[in-house]
Amino acid sequence: MPPANTRPIRRIAITTGGGDAPGLNAVICAVTRAALQRGWDCIGIRDGYDGLLRPERYPQGGCITLTRERVEGIAALGGTLLGSTNKGDPFAFPTAQADGSIALLDRSEDLLDALARERVDALVAVGGDGSLAIAHRLAQRGLCVVGVPKTIDNDLDGTVTTFGFDTAVGFASECIDRLHTTAASHHRVFVVEVMGRYAGWIALHAGLAGGAHAILLPELPFDLAAVAGLVAQRDARGLAYSIVVVAEGAYPRDGVHALLGGAEAGHAERLGGMGEQVSAALARLTGKDARCVVLGHLLRGGSPSAFDRVAALRFGAAAVRALAAGQADVMVALDGNDVRPVPLADVAGRMKAVPLDGDTLATARDLGICLGG
Ligand code: F6P
Repeated sequence: MPPANTRPIRRIAITTGGGDAPGLNAVICAVTRAALQRGWDCIGIRDGYDGLLRPERYPQGGCITLTRERVEGIAALGGTLLGSTNKGDPFAFPTAQADGSIALLDRSEDLLDALARERVDALVAVGGDGSLAIAHRLAQRGLCVVGVPKTIDNDLDGTVTTFGFDTAVGFASECIDRLHTTAASHHRVFVVEVMGRYAGWIALHAGLAGGAHAILLPELPFDLAAVAGLVAQRDARGLAYSIVVVAEGAYPRDGVHALLGGAEAGHAERLGGMGEQVSAALARLTGKDARCVVLGHLLRGGSPSAFDRVAALRFGAAAVRALAAGQADVMVALDGNDVRPVPLADVAGRMKAVPLDGDTLATARDLGICLGG
């Protein structure tokens, strides 16, 4: 474990960074209530670190005082009351230059100064791999930080699951359920593209839960001839429709990821479009009508499932317990049945892909689901 923090804590801050996920407000609620229980003050930084690094944008103040009243009832709400950004890395902060270009500047020292001015003794950083890597770098600069793993994609190493994933899978499988009837009525192929970046967790779980006939994952580059063969086999058996779930990061054996244009400075490349490509190719290969539905950001919305609410509340409370116990530079993680701190150094920036030898993939194979190979 990293060295213990020995400074007394009186006031903490919480930040939510990266793409939002159902359960963020539940974390904010738990962190606030657990901090107030200990007699600490709690503030929330707006929009990642922007509230402190771009104060001119926040005439009402870049931080929100989090009180018991302010967090009442928020655990059931999607989104984040603090706001979020995935263009706010303080070590490579997008900053407009006189000539109109955007430069990525190291503003980490400004951030540490601003936190000191706010009299913040410790920070709870809620985010995905990028935000947790930032949290680790801030901890190395002396800040007392605990990370909380968030992403609908479930692709963070060191934790059994992240909050947001269960809600996203529940919604995606409901959408797939609904597509069965219209696909069957029109004898069509339906391709459903889901988020997940370079990991296929949402596609695999939603595809299994929704009864998909083929599931294409980034972990298993696919051959569309195999999927077209599955569609033809189903037709021959009188099952004249098929549902294919495609992770946004899936790609053909002889091809590349589908990317959306328009990536901005300080923002990761944007995946998207593989569903359309698969749909067009299957129409060509099978001679059937094919349609594509992209679930995209719908997967990030809505009220968190009960599982995600409980996971997020547990993570938030565990983050405050870790701080109270003098821990820093750790991430709270679900390990078996318990939430425990793990060193940020061991997990930050490390992706968790779907294991090719895991039982969930084996289940898909045993059910005869086509995995594109
Ligand atoms: O939250 C992660 C994620 O949902 C990815 O699956 C997806 O590629 C990305 O966010 C898109 O985020 P945005 O459009 O907000 O940049």
